[in-house]
Amino acid sequence: MDSQNKENEINRRRFLQNSAKFVAAGIYLGMFGMPELFGNVIIDKGTRGIPDVKLNNGLKMPLLGFGTYGLRGELCQQSVAEAIAAGYRLIDTAKVYGNEEEVGKAIKGSGIDRKQFFVTSKLWVDDAGYENAKKGFEETLRKLGLEYLDLYLIHRPRGDIKGSWKAMEEFYKAGKIKAIGISNFDPAQMADLLSYAQIKPAVNQIETHAYFQQINDYNVLKKHNVQMQAWAPFAEGRNGLFTNEVLTQIAKKYGKTTAQVSLRWHYQRGIVSIPRSSQKVHIVENLDIFDFKLDDVDLKAIEMLDLNKTQFPEWS
Ligand SMILES: NC(=O)c1ccc[n+]([C@@H]2O[C@H](COP(=O)([O-])OP(=O)(O)OC[C@H]3O[C@@H](n4cnc5c(N)ncnc54)[C@H](OP(=O)(O)O)[C@@H]3O)[C@@H](O)[C@H]2O)c1
Repeated sequence: MDSQNKENEINRRRFLQNSAKFVAAGIYLGMFGMPELFGNVIIDKGTRGIPDVKLNNGLKMPLLGFGTYGLRGELCQQSVAEAIAAGYRLIDTAKVYGNEEEVGKAIKGSGIDRKQFFVTSKLWVDDAGYENAKKGFEETLRKLGLEYLDLYLIHRPRGDIKGSWKAMEEFYKAGKIKAIGISNFDPAQMADLLSYAQIKPAVNQIETHAYFQQINDYNVLKKHNVQMQAWAPFAEGRNGLFTNEVLTQIAKKYGKTTAQVSLRWHYQRGIVSIPRSSQKVHIVENLDIFDFKLDDVDLKAIEMLDLNKTQFPEWS
């Protein structure tokens, strides 16, 4: 072999070796999940079967969870148990929902390691203020039968928020809450909190769905690196959301339901959503959103559905 041929042979071998490394890396990343980027939020494959988002304190939070508003007693315990069996690990409750005991029983009854769960509860308005918030939190923990919460939110921006936040910061520092946040805070209310908070909120949970897309809040939260979480991701079906013509057309295109398109839309915007259901078929359906992707035309069409108005005027 002359020197030119020798060099060609060496280059060919190098090429094959590098290609093999490249393919192996591709298989590795495919298996273990490459981080995806949606709406500037880095999403990784998740450790609990559902993709996670990393909060501003480093804690990982599943991007899809289970809501429990309006579920009470036996129905609540059974629905949460079904949700856990289906694969949900983020469970969203609140003192005012009156179901923390049932949520706790379903978690315990699953036999799954506590560390696999991401449990959220909320401080109700009546418990605002430093001393009351401490009592409110202890009661929540006791009712849930848990040693710690993953996320604790101020449910509504009412009363002595400064005192509530101080109590929550103390529990956070003591390791009793892994992340603290807010709910139903508008940008001005959040700015006020940020002016004195020692610990920045990790999450703001607000009404968000196709009819109320909260574009301004979305941008403000992103700027402050506070994770947006959607309550009522289906607007509870108000204003005909489940039969909306645009969502129906998009759903048909992918062989999905309007509920799945709605949840996928939240996911692709990097928003954590917490749909609630008391029906097993819906509980399972709502998890099945990770095998299709809305394209730019779909996203544009959904953008046009924004009425920029709450669908829950009774709570304003
Ligand atoms: N922070 C706050 O102030 C606040 C306020 C409201 C809610 N939240 C939280 O956010 C969670 C979600 O909000 P939400 O419960 O008000 O409303 P939602 O999740 O938008 O809607 C729930 C309704 O959708 C139906 N549904 C669920 N999946 C469906 C599917 N695949 N097809 C058709 N219908 C379906 C359910 O009926 P079925 O039972 O028949 O499936 C239920 O009537 C709450 O549960 C709660 O945890 C927080």
